Amino acid sequence: MADLSINFAGIKSPNPFWLASAPPTNSGYQVMKAFDAGWGGAVWKTLGVPVVNVSSRYAAVNYKGNRMIGLNNIELITDRPLADNLREIEEVKKRFPDHAVIASLMVETREQWHQIVKDSENAGADGIELNFGCPHGMCERGMGSAVGQEPNVLKTIVGWVMEVATIPVIVKLTPNISDITVPALAAQEGGGNAISLINTIQSIIGVDIDNFVPYPIVDGKSTNGGYCGPAVKPIALNMVKNCAQIPGYNLPISGIGGIETWKDAVEHILLGASSVQICTAVMHYGFGIIRDLKSGLEQYMDQKGFQTIDDMVGKALPNTKTWENLNLKYKVVASIDDDKCIGCQLCYTACEDGAHQAIGLTGEGENRIPHIIEENCVGCNLCSLVCPVEECITMERRDDGKEHVTWKERTNADDIPTTFNDKRAGGLGHWVPEPLEALKKGHYDKFKD
Ligand SMILES: Cc1cc2nc3c(=O)[nH]c(=O)nc-3n(C[C@H](O)[C@H](O)[C@H](O)COP(=O)(O)O)c2cc1C
Ligand code: SF4
Ligand code: SF4
Repeated sequence: MADLSINFAGIKSPNPFWLASAPPTNSGYQVMKAFDAGWGGAVWKTLGVPVVNVSSRYAAVNYKGNRMIGLNNIELITDRPLADNLREIEEVKKRFPDHAVIASLMVETREQWHQIVKDSENAGADGIELNFGCPHGMCERGMGSAVGQEPNVLKTIVGWVMEVATIPVIVKLTPNISDITVPALAAQEGGGNAISLINTIQSIIGVDIDNFVPYPIVDGKSTNGGYCGPAVKPIALNMVKNCAQIPGYNLPISGIGGIETWKDAVEHILLGASSVQICTAVMHYGFGIIRDLKSGLEQYMDQKGFQTIDDMVGKALPNTKTWENLNLKYKVVASIDDDKCIGCQLCYTACEDGAHQAIGLTGEGENRIPHIIEENCVGCNLCSLVCPVEECITMERRDDGKEHVTWKERTNADDIPTTFNDKRAGGLGHWVPEPLEALKKGHYDKFKD
């Protein structure tokens, strides 16, 4: 049976699933309830000089029947006094000594950093997370993402923390930056023991078009917020991967962003995370999701023969290359399973208007069924993505696997298009309809002579 326990930069936890710093970790009551349900660790709601919050605070993207595929919030750090939080951290640690409690911190001055780090250690926290990520409210006051966006400031503050810290320090990064590897490296240079990412993405989630005000609405006004939930996972995965692939970089990574199922967590781990943190999914479905997260991960590890989490960390990294290293000779084309096709023609429309006119229709009127015109198909995947029937359109390999040529190799061999009409263009000779001729053949009266 797989062993789920981890030692993340010196922080021990019975499993890699931690609650991210957010409303689910507001209080000792919640954290103890979560540990009791099976969570391995909790990053406490960010501590600092307590704030005053607004109401309302959240807004969401609902997409075609799915609630909250993206969540936006304009909440700040904890609004509870530090002493109350510290007392509750102490109590949680007394009752759950083997679980990981990490104090998330955000203050301004060196003195305040020193004080709050020592206070957190004295309360029994197993680690500290520096919140350099909050992209609303706190950044207006020079904290949160305002620090995460300034690598030199970030490095200086990590340095202040390391002057006094005796427990592991995780630096939480903001995704609101063009190159995530810059603050990641600054965290290492400052002496931090690990990084975590992502915090929320600065966003406006929508606008009340009757009253001309974005959501969430606070007495007729609004502000930009932080975006998270399932919709942000692709951005988080890319940033986790980018950090994990920095040459010479060796800090552990706690992956955050869009994790709802065990599979999401596995994806973060395969791209380099050695613990994962979850917020929106818990706000949506509660602490009980930990049962499926743990059992799903355990089954996956057993199936794949992974004994420990460390065995699987970064397993997808060797297969994650820069574009110039992909095989240009690999060739797939779409194939439709006629027995599964329900004749909806979504694939036809998508390929006809949005891709390469490589799907034809046979038959009459609404009963027309699609077929692939192989010589036109570039193997882009679009039809298989829009097809509503599972496994109805699959991509089939057509090259014999013997040739392997990359853009990099072609560049080195001086064999790439260099002028606008270069004969080495990839699409040269590929069939494209002659515009007017094709339009006249269709049902477009205005183009007829
Ligand atoms: C309402 C709300 C409050 C949050 N508060 C904090 C916070 O105090 N400190 C912090 O570091 N991150 C905070 N976050 C960000 C989360 O910890 C996490 O980084 C982000 O939500 C992405 O994870 P998810 O996609 O699982 O939600 C907050 C997120 C939400 C939705
Ligand atoms: S893979 Fe792309 S080009 Fe080929 S049929 Fe599908 S949509 Fe058209
Ligand atoms: S989208 Fe799928 S089900 Fe619909 S017509 Fe195309 S192949 Fe058939």
